Amino acid sequence: MKKVILTHRYSEEAISLLRREFQLHIAADQGPDIPGFLRRHADADGLISFLSDPIDGAVIKGLKKLKIIANFAVGYNNIDIGSALENNVLVTHTPDVLTEATADLTMALILAVARRLVEGDAFVRTGRFTGWGANLFLGKELRGAILGIIGMGRIGLATALRARAFGMKVVYYSRSAKPALEKKYGFARVTFLELIRSADIVSLHLPYSPGVHHLFNQDVFALMKKDAIFINAARGPLMDEEALAEKLAKNERFGAGLDVYEGEPAVNKKLKHLKNTVLLPHLGSATGKTRRSMAMMTVQAVRQALNGEKPRHLIPEWKERLRKKP
Ligand code: DGY
Repeated sequence: MKKVILTHRYSEEAISLLRREFQLHIAADQGPDIPGFLRRHADADGLISFLSDPIDGAVIKGLKKLKIIANFAVGYNNIDIGSALENNVLVTHTPDVLTEATADLTMALILAVARRLVEGDAFVRTGRFTGWGANLFLGKELRGAILGIIGMGRIGLATALRARAFGMKVVYYSRSAKPALEKKYGFARVTFLELIRSADIVSLHLPYSPGVHHLFNQDVFALMKKDAIFINAARGPLMDEEALAEKLAKNERFGAGLDVYEGEPAVNKKLKHLKNTVLLPHLGSATGKTRRSMAMMTVQAVRQALNGEKPRHLIPEWKERLRKKP
């Protein structure tokens, strides 16, 4: 029986499927030391990892028989892809199934910041709501606001479509033009500078790589509108969290909705004390339906790879490699 290792517990259904076909070991059941667990199971054939597990070159080289890493996430910046390619270890991820859930969460963050939902909730719970007030928690209107999407991929588009239904005007910055979307929905492709200067809400929807580290830094925040809203449900290191905290502390009218953090799970202390900020614990894909589908995709990926088939959801770098050398 082939050996599969899983770093944390997830869908019980997926776990029982894995147990039927493989000798399964779950790191979380053996204590908190995941690096130690990975060293103890150096003969594993398959690894199912979470986005919070750093799978670096040393881990990959240490797992001598490894054929596949199935990442339980669409983003895979936790894995050293160069090393996986070099060591012939397939890498898969979970695209598509989490698109709608993540776009919903993005809209929830936009609404929560624009309409001050978290402040309002705390106000009621602490007994301060003594009557309807003409100026109570005035927020920002979405109809007519400009939403700037950074990265018009699957999740960017799903968010843009939701925003369109709210009457927002959508502009986007993306490596490639999307003429069909421009024609069909009236979305406008603009430069990065145009977007950050003109948008009322800026939402990040691009994968993280070192090339876009701190894409949003002090200089960029300075160019945004004074009362803009910044949303990040993509990856923490796309933003300079300290610079964002300073911007928010100095500008009460500026707002932010964050689902991800630079040093996750650590969160910049300053952010925790700001009222113009909504903070979530990386919930983008957190619906029962989506997480089940993601787990099933990892089972399928491991099954296919360990049966000598090409896994369906290989990451783009692996698809590219196979396109060149099938
Ligand atoms: C992912 O899968 O990369 C998302 O960040 C999960 O919410």
